[in-house]
Amino acid sequence: MEKDWYKDLVVYQIYPKSFMDSNNDGIGDIKGIISKLDYIKSIGVNAIWLSPVYCSPFKDNGYDISNYKDIAPVFGTMDDFKEFLTKAHNLELKVIMDLVINHTSDEHEWFKISSKSRDNAYSDYYIWHDPVDGHEPNNWESCFGGSAWEYVKERDQYYLHLFSKGQPDLNYSSPKLKKEIFDMVRWWCELGVDGFRVDAISYLEKAPFTYSPNKENAMGYAFCMDICSGREGTHSIIKELRKIFDEYNCMSVGEVSVSNVEELYKYSSDSRKEFNMAIPFIPPVVEIDTFTPSNMRKSIIESYEILKSDGCWARFLSNHDKPRQVSLYGDDKKYYKESAKLLALITHLLPGTPFIYQGEEIGMTNIYYPTLSEYDDIDTKNFYEHELAEGKSKEDAFKRAQMVSRDNARSPMQWDDTLYGGFSNSKPWLGVNDNHTTINVKNENNDITSILNFYRNIIKIRLTSKALRRGTLEFIFKDSEKLFAYKRELDGEEYVVITNFSKDEELINFPFDNYTLVISNYNSNYSKSSLTLKPYEALLLKRK
Ligand code: GLC
Ligand code: CA
Repeated sequence: MEKDWYKDLVVYQIYPKSFMDSNNDGIGDIKGIISKLDYIKSIGVNAIWLSPVYCSPFKDNGYDISNYKDIAPVFGTMDDFKEFLTKAHNLELKVIMDLVINHTSDEHEWFKISSKSRDNAYSDYYIWHDPVDGHEPNNWESCFGGSAWEYVKERDQYYLHLFSKGQPDLNYSSPKLKKEIFDMVRWWCELGVDGFRVDAISYLEKAPFTYSPNKENAMGYAFCMDICSGREGTHSIIKELRKIFDEYNCMSVGEVSVSNVEELYKYSSDSRKEFNMAIPFIPPVVEIDTFTPSNMRKSIIESYEILKSDGCWARFLSNHDKPRQVSLYGDDKKYYKESAKLLALITHLLPGTPFIYQGEEIGMTNIYYPTLSEYDDIDTKNFYEHELAEGKSKEDAFKRAQMVSRDNARSPMQWDDTLYGGFSNSKPWLGVNDNHTTINVKNENNDITSILNFYRNIIKIRLTSKALRRGTLEFIFKDSEKLFAYKRELDGEEYVVITNFSKDEELINFPFDNYTLVISNYNSNYSKSSLTLKPYEALLLKRK
């Protein structure tokens, strides 16, 4: 296999609960995924990242694992998984597993035993602390809001949970626990998986418990970052993990909370031998409040500069924790198709490995359920309570919760225009978006101008051009607030991406004569030296 093969991947993320239901219980499953492998292949991607399919009580939708070495019955069996792996491999699709090792479920056997007494085989697998003056050991809060401590009577102690109380944090200062986790990772490698997306990994080592961050300045995720993101102990555990990945030639992408590019460098540079690349986690509420195209460009430039000679980037605008990209960064109304295609073009023609989140390729949009009870996501519910506590009215709190909700990305995949979008014949666990009557795979398959077919073209273009995968990056029109444009170059091959990331028209001067058009989202004439770009117009040119 070629060195750095992970730089030539285009990854498709599946959120199993919402992808395809094979047995009509309203919940997606592995057999459903198998039935759609040909579709996934038809997009042109060459890897699948599977969000967790392990045993779980689903308090955080599978990111709370109760058995690492088995499949949740609602998703199928280990045999189904093996069939999926073989069939994916036969189609030359790599399989990347989600690895959730910062915490387990509170229903994991280890935790059940650990909670029973202070002196048992698993008693130090989690982070336990005596009460202080009859209360929580300190003022730490969880990422999802509320105290990060939960009391257990049998031990007369509190355990730490940086996420929900159903997700107790593991204690990596226990050598036995660490070995157990590493053995489990090997077990999956032996089974033949090709890589791992490693969940919430920047939090492994905690700060001393006497550390007390200022509550006024930080809530939820920000609070946890302050407590324990990126500590040296965490980096050394990642380095140990990397050795296992390397033995099996597995790729790795870490999901990390970072506050600047220097921290991103630590996780994703080649020379430090941690991950091959990293997914920086930014809370949706922060993105909603701060997003502008020029901020996006600024952060891409910064991370490019710091990693260009020594690392790789995970390129994504969507995942199961974020609002839908066309609703968040584009315009899901008037310039819906144009902006969805612009976002695809930008992401797939940058250096770094592109990730597509299921449904993004057909331009799925945010879902706005009319009442809180229709939401499932624990984070949405806690966020709503938090906004109320901050003094917002019920109406305003709910509106904000609808915008940031992780359920925006989790509504079922829209396969066709039938009652439940072809996802299932029974009422799905989470409501299908009403717009499935027009936005669906079946419609878009047959329409050469669809978002889906645009993705297929763009991916093909990327995978057949080394300059677009490995070439240098140089931003052009840097002074414009509206244009997001760049050059890619390798061994004399040069491409130019020009996009008008705005709702307005924009006049540009550019020597179009010297280039041929490869693809665009409008039928403009790109031959004069000046041109008025239409709203969200996006094009790729190749130097003659
Ligand atoms: C990551 C996951 C998210 C989950 C959290 C806790 O951020 O992407 O879905 O809730 O970790 O495991
Ligand atoms: Ca099912």
